[in-house]
Amino acid sequence: MDKRPIGIFDSGVGGLTVVKQVIKELPNEDTIYFGDTARVPYGSKSKETVTEFSRQIMRFLIKNNVKAVIIACNTVSSNCFEALRAEFDLPITEVVGPGVESCLAATKNGRVGVIGTQATINSGAYENGIKAKDSSIKVFQKACPLFVPLAEEGFTENDIAKLTVKTYLQELKEKNIDTLILGCTHYPMLKKTIGEFMGDEVHIVDPAMETARSMKSCLEKLSMTGEETEGSHIFYCSDNCKQFNAICKKNLGLECRVHKVNVEKY
Ligand code: DGL
Repeated sequence: MDKRPIGIFDSGVGGLTVVKQVIKELPNEDTIYFGDTARVPYGSKSKETVTEFSRQIMRFLIKNNVKAVIIACNTVSSNCFEALRAEFDLPITEVVGPGVESCLAATKNGRVGVIGTQATINSGAYENGIKAKDSSIKVFQKACPLFVPLAEEGFTENDIAKLTVKTYLQELKEKNIDTLILGCTHYPMLKKTIGEFMGDEVHIVDPAMETARSMKSCLEKLSMTGEETEGSHIFYCSDNCKQFNAICKKNLGLECRVHKVNVEKY
């Protein structure tokens, strides 16, 4: 048994969609979340910059005594996972692998769409991951960078969200895909709008649940699960705590204790 918390991080509020599933799958675990709201978006930045930001966050979380870390960000998972795993000596899980598994389980016609940030799409992580398991699958990718500020702003179901979804996803809709991976942790906040536009015949994959399950099996294998009491959750962000709190409340139904931290110190 290991009572220490699990660290979870993202560039902003997106990783809260992963926290939600962690609370469901691992209800006894304490968590510490960090959202880098001062430096979001990561998806338009270089691999070097995102790796350096992620290192600072890892050091901050480790200072806060976490036993393991979930990278709740596709941009970091697809560009920096190997570097972080090589540098930090604790269990780290990420979101792309679980997303690939969920997609393979869902597709029937072998035509899948992947949406994510520009950095995630450019990395080819999803396409390579899917093709490595089944080379016959056709993968259609599209970067949708404006979904991130919409989610940060809480604009997820209004006319601006609907028009942005149509503008980005029209071309994928015409590809006869039956599965669409939400390859950015901000995007599940727009899931209703995306689902309505794509139609019932397209299965929307949010890798969050599988991600939470992969951390669960990792902790079980290492005999590092927590106590049999309800977990507590602490939230940190690097700017604009009030907005973070509002999104947190909307998505998790929790009155979060959000603290501001200068992560550049770490
Ligand atoms: N939520 C993150 C992701 O999954 C990053 C979005 C961004 O900061 O651009 O990719």
